[in-house]
Amino acid sequence: MEIRLLDRHDAAAYQALRLQALRDSPHAFSASHDEEAARSLDEVAARIVPAADGSVRMFGVFESGELAGFVALIHPQRKKLCHGAELAGMYVTPSSRRRGLGAALLQAVIAHARSIDGVRQLGLSVNATNEAAKALYRSAGFMSWGVQPRALQIDGVFHDEEYQLLRLDVPR
Ligand SMILES: CC(C)(COP(=O)(O)OP(=O)(O)OC[C@H]1O[C@@H](n2cnc3c(N)ncnc32)[C@H](O)[C@@H]1OP(=O)(O)O)[C@@H](O)C(=O)NCCC(=O)NCCS
Repeated sequence: MEIRLLDRHDAAAYQALRLQALRDSPHAFSASHDEEAARSLDEVAARIVPAADGSVRMFGVFESGELAGFVALIHPQRKKLCHGAELAGMYVTPSSRRRGLGAALLQAVIAHARSIDGVRQLGLSVNATNEAAKALYRSAGFMSWGVQPRALQIDGVFHDEEYQLLRLDVPR
């Protein structure tokens, strides 16, 4: 297994896996398949290359050289917000699940967030019914702090979103 930041050469593989994620796990993402499918490869490349100001980084986990999962780390640059960063869009392809890739990806991103000067906490949101992802985040020390009712509406059905936080400045 290899974990690294994605760059523009990964755009095609990322886009294929991202569209698969939106097809097979629509309830786990706020983006929709149709919106994302319309993006050109150049747009996708621009979204996954590390932002020059450090505000967005996309990490990938690879098995036998193939992209098997990804997660984004978003770091707001504004003065009042830059003590926090957000995890978004976590996915591991079904054939690679339950073998520790998600946990390894999560630990790599947490370690990276710790290395960013001034970052004290990591937040994320997860569909309140997504027990697999909630167990994964819990095992890394994330704590739930609230639920937004009806955060997503998918095919006419509302879904609650649970918000979680990991403090990086307190020992676990
Ligand atoms: C959630 C997801 C990323 C987990 O990836 P994974 O590579 O299978 O996770 P791991 O094998 O590293 O599992 C780590 C821990 O997470 C928990 N976990 C993972 N899958 C689980 C499942 N199906 N049921 C219960 N717990 C689960 C367990 O605590 C597990 O530890 P264990 O194997 O020692 O019991 C993956 O299932 C996925 O991509 N799901 C669809 C998209 C999604 O829900 N993304 C999250 C958006 S917030």
